[in-house]
Amino acid sequence: MLTAHATAHSNIALVKYWGKRRGVAPELNLPAVGSLSLTLDALRTETSVAAGSTDSFTLDGERARDGEGAKVFAHLDHVWASAGHAGPRPTCAVESTNHFPTAAGLASSASGFAALTMAAAAAFEWDASRGTLSTLARMGSGSAARSIFGGLVRLDLGDNPDGSDCRARRLAQPEDWPLSLVVAQTTVGRKAVGSTGGMERSRQTSPYFDAWIDASPRELDAAEAAVEARDLATLGAITERSCFAMHACMIATDPPLLYWNGVTVEAIKACWEARAQGLPAFVTIDAGPHVKALCRPQDAAALADLLRAVPGVTDVLVCRPGPDASVRTQPAAHAEVGQ
Ligand code: PMV
Repeated sequence: MLTAHATAHSNIALVKYWGKRRGVAPELNLPAVGSLSLTLDALRTETSVAAGSTDSFTLDGERARDGEGAKVFAHLDHVWASAGHAGPRPTCAVESTNHFPTAAGLASSASGFAALTMAAAAAFEWDASRGTLSTLARMGSGSAARSIFGGLVRLDLGDNPDGSDCRARRLAQPEDWPLSLVVAQTTVGRKAVGSTGGMERSRQTSPYFDAWIDASPRELDAAEAAVEARDLATLGAITERSCFAMHACMIATDPPLLYWNGVTVEAIKACWEARAQGLPAFVTIDAGPHVKALCRPQDAAALADLLRAVPGVTDVLVCRPGPDASVRTQPAAHAEVGQ
């Protein structure tokens, strides 16, 4: 095997995914809805995969917790099997670093599993297409499928029961449409309920779950058309509808999934006030309390100032569209071990 170093950027969903497909193997991690996202330049993960004497995983320079390591090694197994190699997978040393401006609970699973997938495929000398890498990244984390591509990206639901056509595709290159995303951090720390457990709880108990799923294809097609037309007002309106429909579904879950805090609400209102004053800004929020606002690059600094002024906002970060995930390889530094 080779030594591979991959870089992948995180993304924010403008049309959200919340819920897994019923009746399929859980390890395929197939979403119940498609999604549409913007890859972000300022949030990136770098991951290297090399031969090691045993499987090991370090995250931000520290040996990762057992559960995190197990997920990473299972993902290496998927990539190895998908590459068509016979025999057992070589043992690997995986090192991953999140280059996020602050450690304040911004999602890293998207960039993390995208980088891991790219690095593993290259280390196993597998020249897979980006579409194929996207389906594999999805098995680690649904949002990771989108981070294989830069710019504006759509993750199609597909029809195949094995999920082979549930993959992302690019709608616009980063330079095709200048946009900004302003991230207002409203607290420090990790989220209370992870996305996989939360989605399952919503599916089982939220009275709005089916309505949420049913609305998605229409919103996705309308959002893709808005990207095609470079129509920020329409894309922004869909972005907010998707966000608040998802959170309505979450809040109606039993027990409720209320990811917001008081500062979240104040930051939403600050964006809406900016819009009322003529600054087009459109809000989205993931399974956490931070508020992200889509806007034109020329408005980003003013919007960032408005959000910084909201009491309780701990930090504000301005992102631009980010590039494709990338990988480079070098020959293994020493004879392979642990075969
Ligand atoms: O793929 P996950 O497990 O990171 O879940 C993503 C869920 C949301 O961030 C809430 C929505 C999305 O489409 O990214």
